[in-house]
Amino acid sequence: MTEARLAAVVVLAAGEGKRMRSTTPKVLHPLCGRSLLGHVLAATDALGPDRTVVVVGRGRDQVEGHLETIAPSAVVAVQPEQRGTGHAVRTAMDTVPDLVGTVLVVPGDTPLLTAASLRNLIGLHQHLGAAATLLTAVLPDPTGYGRVLRAGGAVRGIVEQRDADAAQLTITEVATSVYAFEAGPLRTALSELSTDNAQGEEYLTDVIGILSDSSHNVAGSAVAEWQQVLGVNDRAQLAAVGQLMRDRILQRLMLDGVTVIDPGTTWVDIEVEVQPDATLLPGTRLYALTTVAPGAVIGPDTTLIDTSVGADARVRASTCERAVIGPEAIVGPYTYLRPGSRLGRGAKAGGFVEMKAAEVGDGAKVPHLSYVGDATIGPGSNIGASTVFVNYDGQAKHRTTVGANVRIGSDTMLIAPVEVGDGAYTAAGSVITEDVPPGALAVGRARQRTVLGWVRRARPGTSSAESAAAAAAGPAAAAADEERP
Ligand code: UD1
Ligand code: MG
Repeated sequence: MTEARLAAVVVLAAGEGKRMRSTTPKVLHPLCGRSLLGHVLAATDALGPDRTVVVVGRGRDQVEGHLETIAPSAVVAVQPEQRGTGHAVRTAMDTVPDLVGTVLVVPGDTPLLTAASLRNLIGLHQHLGAAATLLTAVLPDPTGYGRVLRAGGAVRGIVEQRDADAAQLTITEVATSVYAFEAGPLRTALSELSTDNAQGEEYLTDVIGILSDSSHNVAGSAVAEWQQVLGVNDRAQLAAVGQLMRDRILQRLMLDGVTVIDPGTTWVDIEVEVQPDATLLPGTRLYALTTVAPGAVIGPDTTLIDTSVGADARVRASTCERAVIGPEAIVGPYTYLRPGSRLGRGAKAGGFVEMKAAEVGDGAKVPHLSYVGDATIGPGSNIGASTVFVNYDGQAKHRTTVGANVRIGSDTMLIAPVEVGDGAYTAAGSVITEDVPPGALAVGRARQRTVLGWVRRARPGTSSAESAAAAAAGPAAAAADEERP
């Protein structure tokens, strides 16, 4: 099907969002990896409009700043005072005075609207040659919404909840603030709006009555799923809409072949890519531009931000940000991979390991309780438990390079900048301050001193002294002591 031509999209995003009780403008609140406004623009961009006009007002600087990042080509229309939805659309139309053709109006706070629903609306509108076609929804509870007034099936107007009479309040078909208009009749009707209503505002909804009264063709079409038009007006609705968005994302992944053990505790942002035959265990959260390859198993209780996970890798109970985890690599539990951590094929960052700007070669292992900061570890090397890559001298960060098939003994302190050559060893407990040539053993620790009989002399009468005395008497004597009544 060829795409219907769409002259413009107008997004209403000037409202204050008072009920959010936030210093952040409502449309900038995040939901599954995008702002509310970002979700709306993603749906409208898919329709290929000639122009997108975003009406801004409250929190204008913040909204404009955000638009520069996510939609730099959008036209910004400034509505200095929020004098109603009709006034907002009038402001938008005044910003693009040359515009002719079909205009789609959408609110900035309905992130669940899909491109498919909008495409259907525009298709119907153009097919009918209507002056206006409104997207409606039949809600189980229509409280708060404008009600759609019909006469013999035709749409005659919309009445706001506050202006409705008892009979009108029983109507369950509501206005969604999504409309397709023809620019010409829309401009004329907008110029006729009054503020003669309960809120003293120019209502966009009144445009429908005005067009109908002047014998224009006005149509209405109910959305397939009413949940799509749920708006976010407060934080409770933000959470409720967030769960619906999460369910939608997980549903798509599961149908694409991803196992999601517990959708109720799994959160995946909208731009995350998870390949078929990956498994997400309970408590998995995948954020931003994270990618997961086939066969990888993530979780339980894992957070990945902008992280890529290779095929058949295993990430347990860990937090990783801007990390690259190679195929068949193993991470966790309780491990923190910070930006710039890169694990090669089959590499390991085991339990209680923290890494930052660290390159770990294929098959290299950091199995336990270590900090690896600003380091390169060659393939096949093993880093003993409790090793610290000491990268900070109090003023600057320095790098450590460990070659291939190196064995770093447990509790080694590698004082950067330092280099350990291929195949070298360090003795456990060493403090390495000088480069270690390939194949060498570096021992950097004090020789052990043993003071015989020290406990008997310095700690007489303690349980330690008693045990020492029993040991001195020999194992047979100690056992006989035990058996004495
Ligand atoms: C509006 C409709 C109502 C419909 C409901 C669906 C009107 C008068 N009422 O009510 O029939 O059932 O949406 O959600 O249109 N905005 C501006 N400038 C303004 C006022 C609002 O840009 O001066 C923007 C808001 O930021 C928001 C959108 O318009 O994105 C809708 O405004 P809102 O105040 O939420 O209208 P509702 O009371 O929900
Ligand atoms: Mg609203």
